Amino acid sequence: MRTIETIKELQQWVDERRAAGESIGLVPTMGFLHEGHMKLVERAKEENDTVLMSIFVNPAQFGPNEDFERYPRDMERDKTMAEEAGTDLIFAPSVGEIYPRESSITISPGRMAEELCGKSRPGHFDGVLKVVTKLFHLSGADRAYFGQKDAQQLAIIESWVEDFNFPLKIRRVGTVREKDGLAKSSRNVYLSDQERVEAPHLKKALDIGQEMVADGIDPISAMTDYLIENCSGRIDYIQLLSYPDLTENVEGEAILALAVQFEKARLIDNLIFTIK
Ligand code: PAJ
Repeated sequence: MRTIETIKELQQWVDERRAAGESIGLVPTMGFLHEGHMKLVERAKEENDTVLMSIFVNPAQFGPNEDFERYPRDMERDKTMAEEAGTDLIFAPSVGEIYPRESSITISPGRMAEELCGKSRPGHFDGVLKVVTKLFHLSGADRAYFGQKDAQQLAIIESWVEDFNFPLKIRRVGTVREKDGLAKSSRNVYLSDQERVEAPHLKKALDIGQEMVADGIDPISAMTDYLIENCSGRIDYIQLLSYPDLTENVEGEAILALAVQFEKARLIDNLIFTIK
């Protein structure tokens, strides 16, 4: 496995792969890899001749008071894990390589970015779309892999790709969890010991909520009570929306999602299911 840092080297690699008639699977990440990321690589490997992983902590998607500076980073460990999972190439550019100059042009995802995480992270999904658009163009990927863990991000990217005819397919990969149900996340390392004990209650609250929805009951207040009882963190939101449209008109596919702000870590989780 090779690691490269420049767009020029990436273009050479892409040209070679294309000339050899190989399909390319892209796995965009911000590094500090865990088994969730590994599952994306596995899926990409199954469906493509070659797998490109990007590792780039994207400043454009962090708000001024968010954790860009202290976002966890460990490139050596990431390289070992990516290679073991079967990645062929890591693209790990600097900020200057991706954003060589200020651009006056912005991408605005609109309504879909105003729900869920978008409410407390204004501009976050603009920044996500900015970087994934660049990665889609630079990688020449046939398929790009995203986790359901970040379901709003996935829905917005799917809509962006479909509405603007990007020539690649977006693949959804289910959430990988710890044994106790906690969704794997690079930010779990920020949890204190006590918070780590509390964190699995996020998934438990979602399970309780899903059952209530199946019984035709509005789950939000019961889930709120459950989390207040079992978690010291502050609830940012609990929402039930249609998926992937993210509207209040919940029929068929739905997402039940929540975010809890602990001392140093903001954790998100969701379940996607069909309402009968
Ligand atoms: P990051 O948080 O590193 O996540 C990279 C990819 O891994 C995303 O598609 C995310 O949904 C997926 N992922 C994270 N945890 C997962 C889990 N427990 N199970 C399954 N998949 C999981 O998401 C980003 O980076 C960035 O916003 C990015 C798309 C790279 C743009 O900068």
